[in-house]
Amino acid sequence: PFPKLSMVESSNLITFNGLTNSSGYDTFLLDEERGRLLVGAEDHVFSFDLVNLNREHKQIAWPATPSKRDECKWAGKDLGKECSNFIRVLQPYNSTHLYICGTGAFHPICAYLEMGKRAEDNIFRLESSHFENGRGKALRPQDALCVHNVRLHGKGLCHLPHPREHHPIRTEQHDSRWLNDPRFVGVNLIPESDNPEDDKIFLFFKENAMDGEHTGKATIARIGQLCKNDLGGHRSLVNKWTTFLKARLTCSVPGLNGIDTHFDELQDVFLMSSKDPKNPVIYAVFTTSSNIFKGSAVCMYNMADIRRVFLGPYAHRDGPTYQWVPFQGRVPYPPCKTFGGFDSTKDLPDDVITFARGHPAMFNPVHPIGGRPIVVRTDVDYQFSQLVVDKVEAEDGQYDVMFIGTDLGTVLKVVTIPRESWHDLEEVVLEEMTVFREPTPITAMELSTKQQQLYLGSALGVSQMPLHRCEVYGKACAECCLARDPYCAWDGTECSRYFPTANGRQDIRDGDPLPVLRPAASWRYGVENSSMFLECSPKSQRALIYWQLQKDPTRTANMRWVHTHSACKMCPIHHHSQ
Ligand SMILES: *[C@@H]1O[C@H](CO)[C@@H](O)[C@H](O)[C@H]1NC(C)=O
Ligand SMILES: *[C@@H]1O[C@H](CO)[C@@H](O)[C@H](O)[C@H]1NC(C)=O
Ligand SMILES: *[C@@H]1O[C@H](CO)[C@@H](O)[C@H](O)[C@H]1NC(C)=O
Repeated sequence: PFPKLSMVESSNLITFNGLTNSSGYDTFLLDEERGRLLVGAEDHVFSFDLVNLNREHKQIAWPATPSKRDECKWAGKDLGKECSNFIRVLQPYNSTHLYICGTGAFHPICAYLEMGKRAEDNIFRLESSHFENGRGKALRPQDALCVHNVRLHGKGLCHLPHPREHHPIRTEQHDSRWLNDPRFVGVNLIPESDNPEDDKIFLFFKENAMDGEHTGKATIARIGQLCKNDLGGHRSLVNKWTTFLKARLTCSVPGLNGIDTHFDELQDVFLMSSKDPKNPVIYAVFTTSSNIFKGSAVCMYNMADIRRVFLGPYAHRDGPTYQWVPFQGRVPYPPCKTFGGFDSTKDLPDDVITFARGHPAMFNPVHPIGGRPIVVRTDVDYQFSQLVVDKVEAEDGQYDVMFIGTDLGTVLKVVTIPRESWHDLEEVVLEEMTVFREPTPITAMELSTKQQQLYLGSALGVSQMPLHRCEVYGKACAECCLARDPYCAWDGTECSRYFPTANGRQDIRDGDPLPVLRPAASWRYGVENSSMFLECSPKSQRALIYWQLQKDPTRTANMRWVHTHSACKMCPIHHHSQ
């Protein structure tokens, strides 16, 4: 059902081929104000110019100390792969500094990186007099996660406001009901109301199934939530989260045999902001856990469904041998803001804490919008690894354009177009681009709407590409329209960037006008036993042209060749009358 696309020549691609003594260009921080892309990698942190990565980038070497490397080697770790300082946290700290942390050969270290107030200050300096031990560092929940993550070799998770005050908060350790070997993928602060005290932190991760959780899956994708102002309990759960809850995130397609195909390996999450900051749309990328069956999917979730699941019921079981069931009793669980009349989580009564400790999981899972993925790939040799989404203003409405990175170093540019409703989406692959010379998983992606550029990281280096390359669709109106790329429109002479104010011709929704025949030039008459040339060389990836033979009932001797994917209805006829 998916068009097989040939790889587009990767023109307009700018690549920084990594240093010979570094790899893992995985941690990105987009600094639009200073016009820089900060990249954390093995033993180095880089600052690139957003306009052109290769225009005098800056780099700082920050390797693990020789003694830590030796310790790491003696502990039997892989010196080349693990005993380096992988920079995993890059977080704005104050108006002049960033907070950065590295794995430090299994001894996480953090430091402040001076950037200056403005781009013109041209400062990029590690405050080497001020290294901090990253392990067990006093941090807020989201920062604790960052550092937790440093240990886990995950990717940078700290796209949150800088720490104002530091609290040593973490999860209940040694209790696999809370977190069972979690691999974090993302953390986001989402407002719950107009009162910032109500803000919640949402965690996206995968972990091993809880004991007694009979999903038939070893790995389970989760969404977790926390109150921003959780200070931990007073007598019990001291310095631990008292408001932590988690729910399963499902993403599956029904199978022909009645057995669903589940995508459980959460790989990446992207929050698409909407007009209402309380209700971003959540895009998540999953792969299958099976060794035999390779598949990937993108699912979309909305906050209303997520909030509903976190309202209850809670998952409960009476003992280790019992099943998890919906909890039927009274839930002494107060909201974030006032904690049910208490000033802080430290004042919460024991029954609340006891309940919290015993009930970290919700009974119901969160299902995606429409009940199924918006993009699925099961018949290809690659898997999805990363995702960013751009909201594009087109002539006939707004479109979310997805850029999906794969484990083979390619990027798919995909738009989903509602046919009738959200339940009926048409997936259109606009481009498929090879980014890195050798096949290597794409491990980081950031999108700058200001620069109209996409930035990509892998083990091999960093690349940038424009969000749109309208010129590749050719000069004809029909080809431009058939491409159905919301970024592009035919401006009267060529296919170029569409701006809502300008007068371009575009047709995203109906670029595929089957079976309606529009311009006269989309069909040709032929006389039986004669020959004619039917052109079939579309420049757009989407312009799959088919010629169909139709007998003309009124003129039995003649036949009509119908060009089913005809030009857009708005294109002037003379532009496709070859
Ligand atoms: C890696 O090599 C670069 C030169 O290409 C050098 O500036 C840098 O200090 C080296 N890094 C380490 C950690 O040795
Ligand atoms: C930002 O934080 C750093 C590190 O603590 C400090 O040295 C610097 O003075 C701070 N800058 C401002 C403007 O507060
Ligand atoms: C076309 O060619 C076929 C076989 O070559 C023949 O049977 C048929 O009569 C021809 N049709 C016309 C209209 O000449």
